[in-house]
Amino acid sequence: MSSATYVEPAESEPEIALVGGDVTEGVVRVGDTVRRPVGFNAPLVHALLRHLEEVGFAGAPRFLGIDAAGREVLTFVAGEVAGRPRPGWIADEARLASVGRLVRAYDDAASGFVLPEGVRPFPGLTEQPDLPPAPPYPAELIGHMDFTPDNIVFRDGQAAALIDFDMAKPVSRVDEACNAMVYWAPLGDPVDADPLLRDVDAPRRCRILADAYGMSDTDRSRLVEVAVLRSRRSWFSMKQIAETQGGGWARMWQQGVGDQIKRREAWLERNGTAIETALTAP
Ligand SMILES: Nc1ncnc2c1ncn2[C@@H]1O[C@H](COP(=O)(O)OP(=O)(O)O)[C@@H](O)[C@H]1O
Ligand SMILES: [Mg+2]
Repeated sequence: MSSATYVEPAESEPEIALVGGDVTEGVVRVGDTVRRPVGFNAPLVHALLRHLEEVGFAGAPRFLGIDAAGREVLTFVAGEVAGRPRPGWIADEARLASVGRLVRAYDDAASGFVLPEGVRPFPGLTEQPDLPPAPPYPAELIGHMDFTPDNIVFRDGQAAALIDFDMAKPVSRVDEACNAMVYWAPLGDPVDADPLLRDVDAPRRCRILADAYGMSDTDRSRLVEVAVLRSRRSWFSMKQIAETQGGGWARMWQQGVGDQIKRREAWLERNGTAIETALTAP
């Protein structure tokens, strides 16, 4: 393919399938690189990864170019990703705090990134009359917005790097903190939680994340509202993306992610006060 920009090393290496992601088919490791199909958000993601490299942010793979098969080439980030079944440390509070610090470091590094002209953020989603609005707070940065345990690489027991920037889009810091809480507190009905996270004190874990991130008082008071609005919007957006993109997105929808999002919203109605109290207590 003539658009290849990545120069392969002289010695070729075998392709090893990387499993454990939610959506993307055909993620492979080749030597010290990862090859992924180019997704709809790739123009933004590639520019963002270049920015992170320029500012010296160590917690993300480097974008190396496009290979002869038309796949994006990223550096392989060494370390430990949760995988399934989840490892026992998934509920560990020190790990949780390290996630909050990594998200904060990423947000600070991303806050100087300016979207290149002509790049449309997250073009996989079309605004439609039935799409509930995003939270009414101004975008502060291009957020990662997908802090699942499988998208965080740990080293020495600490969250060290983020991978999988496909969901990146303009958001506020409270959106980022909220997304991390969805997966790590977690925010959702316990029936949908991993057994290791089913009986945890979610409000307490929200507080640990908030403190590690260094959330402002204003953002703490907005968290529950943002979580509810993001839940409502994500039910429609996931449905729309499943219909338009198919593949792994459609599979996730068929597996019931929509019902899980509805249960999260109901759970937030029941637990919102406890979360807000934990976040704002002195
Ligand atoms: N740059 C990378 N460095 C190390 N591991 C990676 C990298 N990219 C992907 N992986 C591994 O492959 C898995 C799936 O990749 P990911 O990009 O998250 O795909 P998906 O979109 O399906 O979630 C990840 O959970 C991780 O284990
Ligand atoms: Mg992933």
